[in-house]
Amino acid sequence: MNFDLFSNQFRAEIDAYLIKHLPVATSPYCEILSEAMRYSVRAKGKRVRPLLCIASYALFEKNLYKISPYWAAIEWIHTYSLIHDDLPALDNDDYRRGELTNHKKFGDSTAILAGDTLNAFAFEHLCEELPLHFSPDKCLKAISLLAKACGLNGMGGGQFMDISAERNGTDADVLFIHSAKTGAILQSCVLGPAILTNCNDAVYKLLSNFGQSIGLLFQIVDDILDVTESSEILGKTANKDILQGKLTVVSVYGLDRARELAKNTYKNAQNDLSKIGNMGYDTEFLKTILDYFLERTY
Ligand code: IPE
Ligand code: IPE
Ligand code: MG
Ligand code: MG
Ligand code: MG
Repeated sequence: MNFDLFSNQFRAEIDAYLIKHLPVATSPYCEILSEAMRYSVRAKGKRVRPLLCIASYALFEKNLYKISPYWAAIEWIHTYSLIHDDLPALDNDDYRRGELTNHKKFGDSTAILAGDTLNAFAFEHLCEELPLHFSPDKCLKAISLLAKACGLNGMGGGQFMDISAERNGTDADVLFIHSAKTGAILQSCVLGPAILTNCNDAVYKLLSNFGQSIGLLFQIVDDILDVTESSEILGKTANKDILQGKLTVVSVYGLDRARELAKNTYKNAQNDLSKIGNMGYDTEFLKTILDYFLERTY
């Protein structure tokens, strides 16, 4: 299956859900904050995290709507992470998803709070909605996994290392940083849905490795695209990493070896996936996403 076909099948539902379930401000004084949250959520993200959740859940279940709260929470968290990533104190970017960044539109303080509020709301939504479909112990495990992926040894710590490495990172750090800042949440997209179903230990282990590889692959390709594509195509400022002295797979290995690294990481993920396929699971959606992660151009 081709990625556009797969994405088009779910895209409208994902976009609608993400907007429809955002909280409503009880005080008119918070309307601008609420608008800032909505501004970044409604912007045109690729929604790869929701799609990855759906693909993972589809290994185990036919009825896919129950996993919606999980992917929605992840996309709200991802959106918060982008709002904060773009702030002057972090990457200082003016464009995101083809539009002005949140802080350029609403100011730094509102952008910081829009990020904080999206993050908190994601967990509120999980606590309220997930137990309507899954047992409490499974919900707790899946929510805890996601919280961990966002935290000190996941995205938060990874973002901190990314910023610190602009000044004093060593080349050996780059894959570790990438797995933390970007990989951990993508791995949760694969593992959270598995936790919520009846996934056995052998498949879970393979999915864990698969999730790790696909998460790393996503950031390796993000680094490559930063130097190979234009700002118009990316919807964000191209060549930003070099300008800022970021530690990336391209700055460490050069473009050719970075591409090789992407290929090898892809093959690792492919291996795990074929083993899952050999155990009788339909991996077509996951394979479609994996191929897209290697071949995407923005
Ligand atoms: C960008 O993520 C930031 C990274 C983790 C590399 P995406 O490339 O998924 O951004 P959107 O959601 O499509 O805007
Ligand atoms: C961002 O990585 C990772 C996050 C956790 C948001 P980048 O800084 O490379 O993402 P872009 O290139 O700005 O989208
Ligand atoms: Mg960054
Ligand atoms: Mg950035
Ligand atoms: Mg980048």
